[in-house]
Amino acid sequence: MEKEVTWQQIEELMCEVAMDLNANTQFLKTREFIQHGDISVYEHCIMVMEKSAKLAYTLKLDVDYEKMLRGALLHDYFLYDWHDNDPSHRLHGFSHPKKACENAKRDANISKMEEDIIKHHMFPLTIVPPKSKEAWIVCMADKMSATMETIHLVKMPGIYKKIKYSSYEES
Ligand SMILES: [Fe+2]
Ligand SMILES: [Fe+2]
Repeated sequence: MEKEVTWQQIEELMCEVAMDLNANTQFLKTREFIQHGDISVYEHCIMVMEKSAKLAYTLKLDVDYEKMLRGALLHDYFLYDWHDNDPSHRLHGFSHPKKACENAKRDANISKMEEDIIKHHMFPLTIVPPKSKEAWIVCMADKMSATMETIHLVKMPGIYKKIKYSSYEES
């Protein structure tokens, strides 16, 4: 994408990448799992994608939007309920980036940058920092979204309905 990107173009791209994942991966399964409060992992990932885009756009950062948006959507693609009593979920905070990355590699043919975004989004909890600025942005957007969800201050972005109605709800 050109440097002189408009917010409308970014919104269109957000819908495009989300609907592509909805159609071609198990991404819609994330609607079945709760992230924080009453927010599903799906809703959380849409918010993280939108916040990442807002940060990059507002700060006029030269980023690869497509990869950043895909990485943001897939950053929590671990596909299980982390609130379950299953002993394997006990270290969820540390282990889920790796699981999400394995799933994304299997289902979404991710690039190196997308792998970086997914693997390192929990920094500094997981010790290896992000490598790309796109991964740093998603790492920050994730923390901002998680905080808003935890204190019940969530407002879903306008694009959420567009993605929802054109992919999941109609099927
Ligand atoms: Fe996460
Ligand atoms: Fe997250």
